Amino acid sequence: MSNRRLVCLEFGPPENLTFEDSPVPSPGPGEVLVKITAAGVGFFDGLMVQGLYQIKPPLPYYPGSEFAGTVAEQGDGAHHFKVGTRVMGLSGGSFADYICVSEKDCTEIPPNLSDEVASGFCANYSTGLYGLQTCGQLQPGETALILGASGGIGSSGITIAKALGARVIAAASTQAKLDLALASGADAGVLYSKDDWRSDFRQALGEDTLNVVYDPVGGSISETAFRCLSPGGRFLVIGFASGTIPSIPLNLPLLKQSSIVGVDWGGAAVAQSNLTRGLLKNLAQWIQDKKLKPAPVTVRPLSSAPSALAEQIGGEVIGKLVLKNEA
Ligand SMILES: NC(=O)c1ccc[n+]([C@@H]2O[C@H](COP(=O)([O-])OP(=O)(O)OC[C@H]3O[C@@H](n4cnc5c(N)ncnc54)[C@H](OP(=O)(O)O)[C@@H]3O)[C@@H](O)[C@H]2O)c1
Repeated sequence: MSNRRLVCLEFGPPENLTFEDSPVPSPGPGEVLVKITAAGVGFFDGLMVQGLYQIKPPLPYYPGSEFAGTVAEQGDGAHHFKVGTRVMGLSGGSFADYICVSEKDCTEIPPNLSDEVASGFCANYSTGLYGLQTCGQLQPGETALILGASGGIGSSGITIAKALGARVIAAASTQAKLDLALASGADAGVLYSKDDWRSDFRQALGEDTLNVVYDPVGGSISETAFRCLSPGGRFLVIGFASGTIPSIPLNLPLLKQSSIVGVDWGGAAVAQSNLTRGLLKNLAQWIQDKKLKPAPVTVRPLSSAPSALAEQIGGEVIGKLVLKNEA
């Protein structure tokens, strides 16, 4: 039995990535061997293979950071997940047939969550709950504007804002992306590729106030979005998928009586070791109670990982991209 895994031998376009065959690894103490059924693709993965992330990993580098799969073997002292249990989590090298991962980095997949959705769940939904509830203090009856609304962070943000009882206005660059956002549960949508998208936004907002902006995109739309906030608003800085970090003049928070709040779920999770476990427990309960309906994902075969990553980098993918292991 061998283990097919994607390998990055030198940084560059994802089309240069290849698959290699290696022996199936053996789980160490406290680890489980997971047979990967699906692996989520995030913006981070595209940056890593190009050597454009803030940290360059040593080469060869094995891409992939999220997974869903089935426990195939338990290492010494690993007793929490029996063989056959469906688990999801975050681990490097997940664009592969098998990985070994510490038991404490695995969470059992809720029964009514598919492996495809579960494989892209942990990071985006933890960020969404931490960002919108803890950092953004989003309240039932408030309105949230979600930018990049068809992406992994955006589409999960919509479903979490809805679960928190908010009204959601989605913003994206194309009608097809907006349709995905509406299918994820957004109440209304605007195209921010239009020059005067703020007037369309005002129309969508109607008599409501805008309380929270959730921004994983950055660039020129951030300032316009900030200007849409009502007094007491919270602008959540999530990321800069556009490649441009916006500079919002500090008179704007004053004039709009609104605050800018940085959301760093990864950093917070390192500082508070139980944070993600608590967030995932809360999310799993919501799924069981049918309070949270995860957004649709876009599925490609694992064998097409290089071209799928190129699509992701090009901003062509609509919805969270997931690689399904056909083996
Ligand atoms: N703060 C945190 O804790 C945290 C956690 C996870 C991820 N993040 C960050 O959140 C950001 C989004 O991640 P994601 O996984 O949701 O990415 P994604 O699925 O690729 O979505 C990003 C969205 O950004 C928009 N976009 C605008 N310009 C783009 C460009 N030049 N290239 C690609 N997309 C562009 C696209 O929507 P339109 O075409 O509609 O504009 C796209 O749907 C990243 O910066 C990531 O690092 C932050």
